[in-house]
Amino acid sequence: MSQSYRLAILGATGAVGRELLELLESRNFPISDLKFLASERSAGEKLLFRGESFAVESVSDRSFENVDLVLASAGGSISKKWAPIAVEKGGVVIDNSSAFRMNPEVPLVVPEVNPEACLNHKGIIANPNCTTILMAVAIYPLHKVRPIQRIVAATYQSASGAGAKAMNEVKKQASAILAGSEPVPFVFPYPLAFNLFLHNTPLNSMGYCEEEMKMVNETRKIFGDQKIRVTATCVRVPVLRAHSEAINLEFAVPFSVDEAREILSKAPGVKLVEDWEKNYFPMPIEASGKDEVLVGRIRQDISHDCGLELWLCGDQIRKGAALNAVQIAELLAEKQLIKPAYALSG
Ligand code: A2P
Repeated sequence: MSQSYRLAILGATGAVGRELLELLESRNFPISDLKFLASERSAGEKLLFRGESFAVESVSDRSFENVDLVLASAGGSISKKWAPIAVEKGGVVIDNSSAFRMNPEVPLVVPEVNPEACLNHKGIIANPNCTTILMAVAIYPLHKVRPIQRIVAATYQSASGAGAKAMNEVKKQASAILAGSEPVPFVFPYPLAFNLFLHNTPLNSMGYCEEEMKMVNETRKIFGDQKIRVTATCVRVPVLRAHSEAINLEFAVPFSVDEAREILSKAPGVKLVEDWEKNYFPMPIEASGKDEVLVGRIRQDISHDCGLELWLCGDQIRKGAALNAVQIAELLAEKQLIKPAYALSG
């Protein structure tokens, strides 16, 4: 990567935004100029990058002038408003929200699964939903060898999926309960500390919430397989920042546990964590801050000859969001798919 890019982070003060900064720095992404964008609430706040202090700017039309690449993580409505403007001004947007994910013109990319989807981008590339990314990394290597016919997933999702405020809310509620007071919900509709509840996104007529339908529709788009059957139950649990998922896979023919384990032990972005004697398998506390999706407890489904069960934990903020976005940025840079804005303006 010889080119350096003028980069803007939209939502820089959020949980994913801060992780983006950390990853861009530690992975040494080539940056010649950097802008931190957020709401007017954070304007003037200082953030550090490579030892230098940068003031956060309130996002406006002018924010995207002379910007080659935007990493957006400020929510769907903000992306819908600003991503087209950033593209119009010559930039490429990697969008972490759900705003454009199912748009047929927008590639939905997990670099370990479908990097080629980036090739025909038209300015916006979507970062998938966090639970979907983590599941895709863990099961695509098996799907490549013998196509999966059906996926049944149950998720145990951390507070971080709802942002930095939600993480603070769980801590405050836990302190309140331990001090003998009532927990006060603010970001979430119900208390999460010492509790759990079904993912609170809107329900469709079939009784599936949006998060569950993201797993269905996004998995099909990423795998390029509209026939794969997916069902999911998504649950919010009082864990701070890594999601867990119990996954049941059904194949057309049997898939041996040994072969699955062998494939996953070499799969990109996956780390096998299994000690059967100690009953030790992936835990969200150990997945936090790690790049890999931890996979374990791979076993034959005793109810189905062609079924496999597995358990995974992955850092929702990292591989579930910021790391995947930075990997897409690296892929675009490597394939020279970011057009420097100065080339457009002559
Ligand atoms: P701000 O800190 O100014 O509110 P999280 O998902 O962790 O809650 O972070 C959300 C991110 O999106 C934050 O950086 C937040 O900035 C940003 N954001 C929220 N609303 C807006 C907005 N209207 N315009 C720009 N950025 C926004």
